[in-house]
Amino acid sequence: MSRKILVALGGVALALSLAACGGEGAGSDSSTSGDKPADLTIGVSMPTQTSERWIADGNSVKEKLTAKGYKVDLQYANDDIPTQSQQVDQMITQGADVLIIAAIDGTALSSQLQAAADKKIPVIAYDRLIRDSKNVDFYVSFDNYKVGVAQANALLTGLGLLKADGSKGTATGPFNIELFAGSLDDNNAHFFFSGAMDTLKPFVDGGTVKVKSGQTKIEQVAILRWQQETAQKRMEDLLTKSYNDGSKVQGVLSPYDGLSRGIITALQNAGYGTAANPMPPVTGQDAEIASVKLINDGVQNSTIFKDTRLLAEQAVIAAEAFLQDKTPTANDTKTYDNGVKVVPSYLLPVVTVYKDNIKKELIDSGYYTAEEVAAGQAK
Ligand code: BGC
Repeated sequence: MSRKILVALGGVALALSLAACGGEGAGSDSSTSGDKPADLTIGVSMPTQTSERWIADGNSVKEKLTAKGYKVDLQYANDDIPTQSQQVDQMITQGADVLIIAAIDGTALSSQLQAAADKKIPVIAYDRLIRDSKNVDFYVSFDNYKVGVAQANALLTGLGLLKADGSKGTATGPFNIELFAGSLDDNNAHFFFSGAMDTLKPFVDGGTVKVKSGQTKIEQVAILRWQQETAQKRMEDLLTKSYNDGSKVQGVLSPYDGLSRGIITALQNAGYGTAANPMPPVTGQDAEIASVKLINDGVQNSTIFKDTRLLAEQAVIAAEAFLQDKTPTANDTKTYDNGVKVVPSYLLPVVTVYKDNIKKELIDSGYYTAEEVAAGQAK
């Protein structure tokens, strides 16, 4: 009984405070701090549903915001830049109060962001930094340079040049490796590649690893839109052009699990993956379930696990801060210069997953079940 009265009084207090704010609703040009969550809409723009990670990200962000009572407008853009621009435009005209955006092309949303700024809608860049605009208010991501370092270290460990603890391994090489990078229009691709190349450099300079194709510049090794098929095709071309003399590919730096699966398919089609002709270590990123199975089966070397649940949580914390007219807390205010300004960021740590820590990192943490890993499919 007394609880009911308290709830009723709370409702009256809320109604009075809303009235005091002049009843400004969602999408108005002014403060949202007095609004009820149910009156506030968060626009969430994700790049594509072809990669599992973005589905997991979208779902996590939506669930967490919905649980707090907010309305969510979640859209996926099929990796098509005009579609994403249009979806963001629509979110703005339909009165979004905050935008959370994982951009396809980090430089393509300037006019949308200007429209958002004109309506005082805060913009949070989600995992991928939006470039060349002053209207990016916050960035949530992982330490992307360290992702690249971790990928290179996993490759060196797979080759036996390093031990799992990072100390010098017993192998001497020289090993033939090939390099892949992500989409050039994704700011992250550059961070991953430079982290990896800085780590590989002493080994390349010392002659223990050799990029046999000679393709070492990001422009030569990038895969537009992070497409699996494009990576498969490039690996096939490399095999035909640079390994037609009986030499073998002994390691591949791959920045994303989808690309890794394309690369592995090309290698399998060329006869790799037998006792006489073993699959070289191929790295990855995102702990996609199909790749986790490949790691568990000893086919793919490793992946970098980025817990999308934690990233979603940070995005929600930042969105809520903006809705309450507060400034979200950053833990990095130096690294992410988008060409116009340094965007305050919240960066999360990453974990390298090999076969022997799948259980600890992915199953015990509840990210996947053991059955999902065995099947290579998430429920
Ligand atoms: C993300 C990676 C992802 C890649 C491809 C990058 O921006 O940071 O986690 O593998 O996009 O979707």
